Amino acid sequence: MRLDSITDAIGNTPLLRIDPAVHGLRRIDLYAKLELLNPFGSVKDRAAWNMVRPGLSEAAEHGRTVVELSSGNTAKALAVLAGMHGVPFKTVTNRMRIPETKDLLLLLGAEVEELPGQTECLDPTNTEDPLTLFHQTLTGPGSSYLYTDQYFNALNFQAHLAGTGPEIIKDLDGRAPDYFIACVGTAGSSTGVATVLREHTPDVTVVGLVAHKSDFVPGIRTLDEVQEVGLFDPAVYDTIASVTSGQAIDGMLTLVRRCGVLAGPTGGAAYFGAVRHLRGVDAELAQRDQGGEQERRSAVFIVCDRIEGYLGYVRERRPELLGRPPQKNSLADLSDAELASATDIGVEDALAWIGRDRPLVVDLRSPFAYAALHIEGSLNIVDELFGELVRGGLPFSKSRPVLLACPVGEQSARYAALLSRMGHPDVRSLRGGIIAWRDAGAPLVRE
Ligand SMILES: Cc1ncc(COP(=O)(O)O)c(C=O)c1O
Repeated sequence: MRLDSITDAIGNTPLLRIDPAVHGLRRIDLYAKLELLNPFGSVKDRAAWNMVRPGLSEAAEHGRTVVELSSGNTAKALAVLAGMHGVPFKTVTNRMRIPETKDLLLLLGAEVEELPGQTECLDPTNTEDPLTLFHQTLTGPGSSYLYTDQYFNALNFQAHLAGTGPEIIKDLDGRAPDYFIACVGTAGSSTGVATVLREHTPDVTVVGLVAHKSDFVPGIRTLDEVQEVGLFDPAVYDTIASVTSGQAIDGMLTLVRRCGVLAGPTGGAAYFGAVRHLRGVDAELAQRDQGGEQERRSAVFIVCDRIEGYLGYVRERRPELLGRPPQKNSLADLSDAELASATDIGVEDALAWIGRDRPLVVDLRSPFAYAALHIEGSLNIVDELFGELVRGGLPFSKSRPVLLACPVGEQSARYAALLSRMGHPDVRSLRGGIIAWRDAGAPLVRE
């Protein structure tokens, strides 16, 4: 194959039939759409190219910078595409949770600006999200940016109308699969592919996968977060199911070790979610077969990107896979019962408790948010660092009570459960977090 430009290598990815000995489905042929084989490493190469291409020469001519709100694959693809065309690229994101991605983006020539998002609660008295404000500047009149706007730009999902969807049908000899399973980030790939498949065969079942509530699977959103995405339309999906980070890693291991597909966590999540959904269908088909007729179905899931950028993510959650001792004191293995038994405390009671017993107040938000406003006398330990500390054992004396605070009270409740399990006798989570504290008019101080 000879190419004139690396962009000609975007798309036309293979459709791999997964060996039935691996997934165990007897009546369903399961295929992986190998988007990890795109030249910059992910399904987002298609969307990035489709979104940026129309404005690139004008941007180069007028000295504009390409800008996107992305902490991952879209930013990677845009950094390369902009760089190839002599145009600067800047990505504006929340705190980057995958350090390798930030390093890679810098290496690719991107400028990276990290802003705290709404949930980080930069300044709890300001209800405007800094990212939203930034979004307004980018879309306002006279903007000197070429803003690709992946969460709202129709060119994102349209990249899959001409590409990904038709390729799947072609590789299935002109038929649409009976089931299509995809992870949902911006919703671009799932919406685009589902549209094409349904136009061809209206009764295709579409399963959208999101990350389990307050869990983190890099590249996709939780059910709450996905509602904020402009391209997300719940009518696209017959079912929306969630996958935990543990299940995503399990799926990833199967793809990597048994299928030779070097998938990242969302590829693993899609495989896991596909097999989980299809197991029931498969059993039903096998039952019906007892009449003699052998009905078969087909299913396609998307492998979005590659494993290499997620070694730190795996190390944190499954250190034993990388030859390190198993993790002690981790949020990942908290049981539902332990979570339910975490003690929380409302704002009014917390105020009285602070006045009376002087608990150590630990604020788990980012330093930006803490500096803007915090509970007087509180200590700021950002949640990732707190996780590290706790892994080594209880970081506080058992003799002093502890009040944990985070933006909305979810993460602090998980840490309260963990510290209780580790033997701390009086640790409580601020119910509703700093947002509830603000809403109740309780005092906050600025650094
Ligand atoms: C690793 C990964 N998987 C899945 C997705 C979801 O794709 P989409 O944005 O098309 O919903 C993304 C999107 O950024 C991603 O980066």
